[in-house]
Amino acid sequence: MGSRFTPLLFLLFMISIPFSSSSKSDNINNKNNNYKLSLDYYKRTCPDFDRIVREQIQDKQSKQPTTAAGTVRLLLHDCMVSGCDGSILIASNSFNKAERDADINLSLPGDAFDVVTRIKTILELSCPGVVSCSDILAEATRDLIVMQGGPFYTVPLGRKDGLVSKAETVEGNLPRSNMSMDQMLKIFEVKGFSAREMVALMGAHTIGFAHCTEFKDRIYRYGKKTPTDPEINPKYAEALKSLCAKDTNGTMSAFNDVLTPNKFDNMYFKNLPRGLAALASDHMLIKDPRTKGFAEWFAANQTAFFEEFGRGMQKLGALNVKTGNDGEVRRRCDTFNDVQN
Ligand code: HEM
Ligand SMILES: *[C@@H]1O[C@H](CO)[C@@H](O)[C@H](O)[C@H]1NC(C)=O
Ligand SMILES: *[C@@H]1O[C@H](CO)[C@@H](O)[C@H](O)[C@H]1NC(C)=O
Ligand SMILES: *[C@@H]1O[C@H](CO)[C@@H](O)[C@H](O)[C@H]1NC(C)=O
Ligand SMILES: *[C@@H]1O[C@H](CO)[C@@H](O)[C@H](O)[C@H]1NC(C)=O
Repeated sequence: MGSRFTPLLFLLFMISIPFSSSSKSDNINNKNNNYKLSLDYYKRTCPDFDRIVREQIQDKQSKQPTTAAGTVRLLLHDCMVSGCDGSILIASNSFNKAERDADINLSLPGDAFDVVTRIKTILELSCPGVVSCSDILAEATRDLIVMQGGPFYTVPLGRKDGLVSKAETVEGNLPRSNMSMDQMLKIFEVKGFSAREMVALMGAHTIGFAHCTEFKDRIYRYGKKTPTDPEINPKYAEALKSLCAKDTNGTMSAFNDVLTPNKFDNMYFKNLPRGLAALASDHMLIKDPRTKGFAEWFAANQTAFFEEFGRGMQKLGALNVKTGNDGEVRRRCDTFNDVQN
């Protein structure tokens, strides 16, 4: 490996982005969920839905390039905790600490919340009270993935927004970078995902960032004999150290895919055997026999990755969806219609 990557390594990750914490919650098994979503859900009630979402994400992403990755992660955190119901978007108030303010601060970027808010604002002018925030998030995520070069997949619509958002429901439903493979597989298995689907979805780390706190232990406190995990490419490890040495306020981040950080491709999987993953949870994919074969397959065949990823995203986007009277169409994405909730 080595020299071919060197210039990029030093150029690409001197980046500081502010934290804004958020997350999502509880343990719902979707296997028998009886939802009804459809591709033409807004065809008559909001015919410009597709166009408005597409225009808004393009405008936002071209001004704020961190939006795409942030929004993908926002969807993950919405759907893994109490289903894809926009509960991650709810703001806390004096009576309720909402999911996005869960203690495990998962640093969801403000730009991701902002793009949903913008789309909602335009839609409320065009077709008031019709489009749910959870549908906006699902559609915007797909469009942003496509904009970055990733696969197109269809997004069935008709989700209602949830009526509950509680910070305490988050823990245990989201994967963490310090989990064992057993724990990671379990988190996804509970929601009905196979190891293969989990690996495909983790390919989302082909875009976006991770904060130094998420991989500091691997570069500074790995073991007694060596402070740095020897499986990290040595040049990359040096670059990560010099990045995180500047991390005085917890805002420094490294790209999850250091070679093509803004392009949605299969480079993330190609990076793994080169030791170019910052997160331990990413590197583990090529160490564990339950995931290694899938990671190698996706590294070798981007078409296969895109197909599996698209299917995985459809499944993620349908987790415990609320329909009918189980939810509402929020007027504002950050507040329940009945503020008592
Ligand atoms: C075992 C599985 C996973 C673990 C342990 C994990 C962990 C993480 C961590 C620690 C970060 C960095 C957060 C930060 O420091 O700001 C991150 C970022 C991200 N994750 Fe994951 N993740 C996993 C699976 C997924 C899946 C399934 C998706 C989507 C389908 C996803 C999408 C993202 C994206 C897009 C980012 C970048 C966010 C940004 O740049 O704002 N992750 N993930
Ligand atoms: C995360 O939350 C903890 C405790 O709530 C706080 O001490 C810490 O500063 C927060 N970190 C970031 C980066 O927001
Ligand atoms: C991972 O880190 C979090 C936060 O620092 C900690 O609470 C948790 O116990 C750790 N989990 C594992 C599996 O080590
Ligand atoms: C955090 O530190 C970085 C790098 O030193 C700096 O660019 C950034 O403005 C700081 N952010 C805050 C919120 O202090
Ligand atoms: C890559 O995957 C696609 C989709 O599964 C398949 O049709 C194609 O034959 C594969 N290409 C190679 C070179 O194996």
